[in-house]
Amino acid sequence: MRLAATCNFGLSSVLKSEIQKLGYEIFESTDRFIRFNGDFRAVARTNLRLRTANRIYIEVSEGEAKDFDGLFEIAKKGEWKRILPTGCPVTIRAVSEKSMLDSLPSIQKTVKKAVVEGYAGRTGEIMPEDPELPEISVLALLRNDKALILLDTSGDPLHKRGYRVAGVEAPIKETLAAGLVLLSNWRYSEPFRDPFCGSGTIAIEAAMIAKNIAPGILRSFAFERFPFADEIPFEEERQECLKREMRDKPHDIVGSDVDMEAIDSARKNAAAIGLDRSVKFEVAEFPNAGTLRTGTLVTNPPYGERLADKRVATSAHEALFDAFRSAPTLSGGIITAFEEAAHFSGGLGMKDRKIPNGPIPCRYYFRTPNRG
Ligand SMILES: C[S@@+](CC[C@H](N)C(=O)[O-])C[C@H]1O[C@@H](n2cnc3c(N)ncnc32)[C@H](O)[C@@H]1O
Repeated sequence: MRLAATCNFGLSSVLKSEIQKLGYEIFESTDRFIRFNGDFRAVARTNLRLRTANRIYIEVSEGEAKDFDGLFEIAKKGEWKRILPTGCPVTIRAVSEKSMLDSLPSIQKTVKKAVVEGYAGRTGEIMPEDPELPEISVLALLRNDKALILLDTSGDPLHKRGYRVAGVEAPIKETLAAGLVLLSNWRYSEPFRDPFCGSGTIAIEAAMIAKNIAPGILRSFAFERFPFADEIPFEEERQECLKREMRDKPHDIVGSDVDMEAIDSARKNAAAIGLDRSVKFEVAEFPNAGTLRTGTLVTNPPYGERLADKRVATSAHEALFDAFRSAPTLSGGIITAFEEAAHFSGGLGMKDRKIPNGPIPCRYYFRTPNRG
């Protein structure tokens, strides 16, 4: 069976290594999209365990699609009657890159018609769609005039871990936070800090990584409703994840923020996944006497979109890059849209990778621990 995973731009290398560590063979990878071989167990395992994937798909059909008739035939090939849960409304999402067919609404309409006709088959059975039931999503991906029809096995995107019970304005996505921590190569025996932690996402993801807590352990997935769900050993894989957790292993992880309400949210979020005693959250203004000198610091400071906030952003960035300058054994990184960051990061031996934070074009300036 062929599977595929999507991710945030800039995180494909991290997702690739996550998939390979789970033992699956990747046969194609491009920005944001990785195809690999798997089985029913892999559907459960990847949904439960991949930290940087947005969604996991089962490939349904594939072929050249230079016109709508061609696309229709490819989509109709799917064994929809066997694949779709009875009664769930089917939504088609479409992406087109470098292809003659580029009208997304027309692609969606064509694929939907093909799914309905494919479902009807020779018997002519009408595909029931009950708006009260949860939606099932199908992705039509066109690249270089090749169409791939993919069944979404995740449902809610995988950044929705289920622990975000309290929020702040514009938190970073959990999948992105995990990607930043993984890129930092944090050594779990060393301290970890996020001094602009907001609702705590980066620190909580760091704790989940160090303690081997599966990112999907709290949530449910679309594949549980599929007619072939019995063949997916979901409960077995969940139990395996629980067995692999190392919750009692001690770690030094602290998130801090100047805003009391943010710290309150961070504590509630950590408690929702049972990490309230593993991650310390405190109110503190950065910089301060306790600023980390060795270990890993990963953070998402204010970028200063509005003029009044520009001064706050400038001093935050100056102080952050100074912390890295004055402490050569400090590793980690800063994700930011702040343009002067490129200037501040000069001479620090930091890599600089384009990683958007949602719709905001950002860069991640980071350096990994010296392995010498
Ligand atoms: C972009 S938000 C971080 C969002 C966070 N990554 C999350 O997932 O919720 C930036 C945070 O920096 C905090 N902040 C601004 N200036 C600060 C300072 N000097 N010291 C500490 N925190 C500060 C703000 O209160 C805000 O919560």
